[in-house]
Formats: sequence, structure tokens, C-alpha cells
Amino acid sequence: MPRLVRHDATDPIKIDPRSLNPDKPIFICACGLSQNFPFCDGSHKPCRTVEQPGVLYTYDKARRNIIKQEPDA
Ligand code: FES
Repeated sequence: MPRLVRHDATDPIKIDPRSLNPDKPIFICACGLSQNFPFCDGSHKPCRTVEQPGVLYTYDKARRNIIKQEPDA
């Protein structure tokens, strides 16, 4: 269930550690679908409920909808 996700950013994302709560864990998005990248926002749920092993998924520009599925060669 790999996926292709478009990211247009060309600069790093600055995270001020003072803005974070040291008592709460920080979840960094690893699926690429977060609308609040680089933080996980729960958008990864389709990765578990929709995507199937052995299929390569391509998401739309907004990273919300699957626009293409093909065998993961
Ligand atoms: S891991 Fe990407 S939104 Fe949660």
C-alpha cells in the first residue's frame, strides 16, 4: 500500500519547540496525507481502511482523494 503524494513546499518547516507541550507526544506524519504537515492529523486512516497491499495509490493535489491505483511493481 505505497502511495504517491504531491508536496509543493520548497523550504523547511520551522517548529518552535516553545510552542509544543512537553507533556504530550508529538506525532509526525509518515503517510504524507496530513493537511497539517508535518504533524499527523488523522488523515492516515484511509491508509489502513482503503488501501490494499500490492497496490500503488496516487492521491490528488489536495492529498484527499485517490485518483489512480495500479499494481505496485
Ligand atoms: S501519519 Fe500521516 S496523517 Fe497521520
